[in-house]
Amino acid sequence: MKKVILTGDRPTGPLHLGHYVGSLQKRVELQNEYETYILIADMQALTDNAEHPEKVRHNILEVALDYLAVGIDPKVSTIVIQSLVPEISELTLYYLNLVTVARLQRNPTVKAEMKQRGFGANVPAGFLVYPVSQAADITVFRANLVPVGEDQLPMIEQTRELVQSFNRIYKPVLVEPEALVPKVPRLPGTDGQNKMSKSLGNAIFLSDTSDVVTKKVKSMYTDPKHIHVEDPGNVEGNPVFSYLDAFDPDANGVKAMKQHYSSGGLGDVTVKKRLFEVLEGFLEPIRRRRAEFAKDPGEVMRILHEGTMKGRDTAGRTLSDVRRAMRLDYYND
Ligand code: TRP
Repeated sequence: MKKVILTGDRPTGPLHLGHYVGSLQKRVELQNEYETYILIADMQALTDNAEHPEKVRHNILEVALDYLAVGIDPKVSTIVIQSLVPEISELTLYYLNLVTVARLQRNPTVKAEMKQRGFGANVPAGFLVYPVSQAADITVFRANLVPVGEDQLPMIEQTRELVQSFNRIYKPVLVEPEALVPKVPRLPGTDGQNKMSKSLGNAIFLSDTSDVVTKKVKSMYTDPKHIHVEDPGNVEGNPVFSYLDAFDPDANGVKAMKQHYSSGGLGDVTVKKRLFEVLEGFLEPIRRRRAEFAKDPGEVMRILHEGTMKGRDTAGRTLSDVRRAMRLDYYND
């Protein structure tokens, strides 16, 4: 079977280390092995930004620059702008008949996001159903594999359910995707909160300058009970160590530091200094490549146009199969 990867990001801001660990890294690693589609999910971004279209528009380029900067190669990966593929919207509408409102309300990620945004019963309908449109994102490209962070697992689960329903009721034309969760499934925020996210203000962005990274690392949350250098410290729930786990190429060094920290005698300042070095080593080449691509936004937009055309082509072929399976191919009998 053909190996296809589909992933996406909402263009609501530049991408951060959480995006990298959750999914970007895998996409870069696998892009030569899989046919790779990457979706800039502007319609999904609008589900909670209907009043800020300029924000979404601006971040199309930012997110594209982040992709190119981390090593997504537009010669092998196809970057697609979601709203320019109307087949995704069409497929979403067909899928909406195969899912209940009760099921949508049970999606734990949507539930948590609704709470965070204070939506309650006034949730925009488009927001409640975004997992369905995400299922369309994935299946319109016939993806087998979706590299995602842990928080996206409920989306893949719903996608699989929709595919099963569709294939059972109509004809088995859709591919059931699997999630690919990385070894660090979720990166905490700099404040030690569960998840790194732009809206929580606890993110280190791939485009942050060296000065900003210094400040963010210096003010990072650590074990609040680790007051004196000689105090034994806790490495669990300590984001400094989570980041070292994710980014320090010297795994043995990290292990040794964890032991030293736990038994006492290793100060936060020293650990943070190491983290800063590690992050700079990772971010510096990304920043340089980003600045290079940013010189020619026209070229970046051209890359997106080309990817989007290719994406439409693939999506159009899937939709022909879908319409035939649903007996909607009135003129092709
Ligand atoms: N919901 C994803 C996020 O918030 C973004 C996304 C949109 C996505 N479409 C997708 C992820 C398709 C994987 C596959 O990060």
